[in-house]
Amino acid sequence: MKYPESAAKDKAQSPPRTGPASPEELLAVAVAVVRPAADLARQMRTDGVFGVSTKSTDTDVVTAADRAVERYVAGALSAARPGDTILGEEFGAATADGPEPAGRASDGGQRVRWILDPIDGTVNYLYDLPVCAVSLAAEVNGTVVAGVVRNIPTGGEWTATRGGGSYADGRRMTGSEQTVFGQALLATGFGYARERRADQARVLAGLLPQVRDIRRFGAAAVDLCLVAEGKIDAYYEQGLNLWDHAAGGLIAAEAGLLVTGLEGKPAGPDLVLAAPPVLYPPLHEALVALDAAGGAGR
Ligand code: IPD
Repeated sequence: MKYPESAAKDKAQSPPRTGPASPEELLAVAVAVVRPAADLARQMRTDGVFGVSTKSTDTDVVTAADRAVERYVAGALSAARPGDTILGEEFGAATADGPEPAGRASDGGQRVRWILDPIDGTVNYLYDLPVCAVSLAAEVNGTVVAGVVRNIPTGGEWTATRGGGSYADGRRMTGSEQTVFGQALLATGFGYARERRADQARVLAGLLPQVRDIRRFGAAAVDLCLVAEGKIDAYYEQGLNLWDHAAGGLIAAEAGLLVTGLEGKPAGPDLVLAAPPVLYPPLHEALVALDAAGGAGR
């Protein structure tokens, strides 16, 4: 199979930009880039998983497909929006086109950074389980304003723009209507380091008797979209990287959920908590009582 090449060679055909891009325009770019990227990942999975190596621990895997998707997305973004910067899971911070811009006058001082997880849920991808996604967010001057998460095996797609709501395959999402914490179905995930996992198991053991049940799907970006859809009632996880939650966090927030860290902190590596306003206080309280953002897991 011949995989699509980087779109960088089309760059010369990009029309010159004038004025700042709106969240809707950035979302349109993101969706146009993520669809073929997810197709690439799916085709590579059909052809077999190659180039598997490990990163932070011996269970934290990366495949040739993670790298190929990141390269493809970087090339396509560079072609569509030269000069924007990109933060990607596999290659870190890279500028799409030369040194990091300060925000050009022609764009009204707008600095755009793209935040990419080429395959969120790489272990599911490795095992051919149907929950893994390309996740891409656009951040303008430090604020995420647009995001798309596309499930690789199914083609399911979730999108959001800041202030414009969030959608699952075009349907507006509003989160769960569950009001009783004891009836809530939660999702969470676990990191790759053994000490962190042991502490996450401790928190889980304290939470499990208080709620209906807990799910572990294996892709944080998809967890956040499922909570936006109301297919699970709330989600929390310690130790996420920005690329895991940038797009999904906006999608959950635009569905009306509260997306934060603990005790007034923003969502971040200490903790990401996403819950409808009614379920948020009891879940937040339970996570604080269990020291879910601290302990040996930090
Ligand atoms: C992982 C997944 C998983 C979560 C981990 C993440 P990756 O991302 O989102 O669900 O529990 O914390 O690291 O490594 O598959 O991109």
